Amino acid sequence: MAGADPQALKDTLLAAIGAASTPDALEAIRIEALGKKGELTQAMKSLGQLEGEARREMGQALNAVKDAVTHALESRRSDLAMAELNKRLEEEKVDVSLSHRPETQGVIHPLSRTLEEILAIFAEMGFVVAEGPDIESDYYNFTALNMPEDHPARQEHDTFYMTPNSEGMRKVLRTHTSPVQIRTMEKMKPPIRIIAPGRTYRSDHDATHSPMFHQCEGLVIGDGITMGHLKGCLIEFCRAFFDVDDLPVRFRPSYFPFTEPSAEVDIGCNRDGGGLTIGAGADWLEILGCGMVNPRVLEYCGIDPNAHQGFAFGMGLERLAMLKYGIPDLRPFYDSDLRWMRHYGFMPFDPPSVHLGL
Ligand code: DAH
Repeated sequence: MAGADPQALKDTLLAAIGAASTPDALEAIRIEALGKKGELTQAMKSLGQLEGEARREMGQALNAVKDAVTHALESRRSDLAMAELNKRLEEEKVDVSLSHRPETQGVIHPLSRTLEEILAIFAEMGFVVAEGPDIESDYYNFTALNMPEDHPARQEHDTFYMTPNSEGMRKVLRTHTSPVQIRTMEKMKPPIRIIAPGRTYRSDHDATHSPMFHQCEGLVIGDGITMGHLKGCLIEFCRAFFDVDDLPVRFRPSYFPFTEPSAEVDIGCNRDGGGLTIGAGADWLEILGCGMVNPRVLEYCGIDPNAHQGFAFGMGLERLAMLKYGIPDLRPFYDSDLRWMRHYGFMPFDPPSVHLGL
């Protein structure tokens, strides 16, 4: 071995390393070169047969080969490991968005869908979402909305009362989302543009009423806000929501303690032939309440009615969902019956978008 040719040895080994296609093949090459009986080990052992300068030179050359081979082995090993990992990643690819049990694939509840659509429309108009608690104080649910203790409108809400606390204060399950108006005006300075969806409760139960239902409240406060802004905003909303460009929208005078003047909004519909079609026709359907925020409500919230004014509106989500999607009965909304869900539900991967039409 004293006559080993370090350059030739290096070339052979590096070529073999480059050609090795598995970690096992690489390990075999390592043993062949650097193992106890390996070629390089043997060459190093036989250095003793050389003398002086020749021994020093050969020693250096063999060390350089050993370094080069060790380095090549390491880098080839990590290349192979990376290739192996990539191959596994490719083969074992899992689509985490797929249902693992296709037979039970979920759908979006029509109520969630309706809310998503409403939020999409108002978001485009620059509204932000606000929230408030389901268990509300008498003050926020009634008093600050201009319904003092003895106000007859209180009787119209079939209110659920909580057990009074030690001071005799009884909270209520909010009968509407309007208290979120008050909470918002207390916290935010005008301009305000919020939409407040949520659960509401009234002691009422039949085919079109549930003790728990959902409403969506809207509130706009600013300078110089008029009934014209209210009308423009809500006409636009109705036409976008029902996806009927020329949908007739009517503002009928009404009364709510927290708005002055107040109106109810009707949309055109047709009952010809027993069915119900939304759009121009002989009939009207009431879909929401609205009005200019009563100056007394602004005062309750510390807003100067001479400096700011605004409008508010409230709508029942179940009613809107039933009208838009032709759902005849309210009760199955809360039954979690999969057959009903499959019939009225929506694809989770197809969220509503205003520009594609709702
Ligand atoms: N809170 C009313 C209800 O539950 C709905 C409503 C009407 C809300 C007019 C408003 C409004 O903000 O301006 O029947």
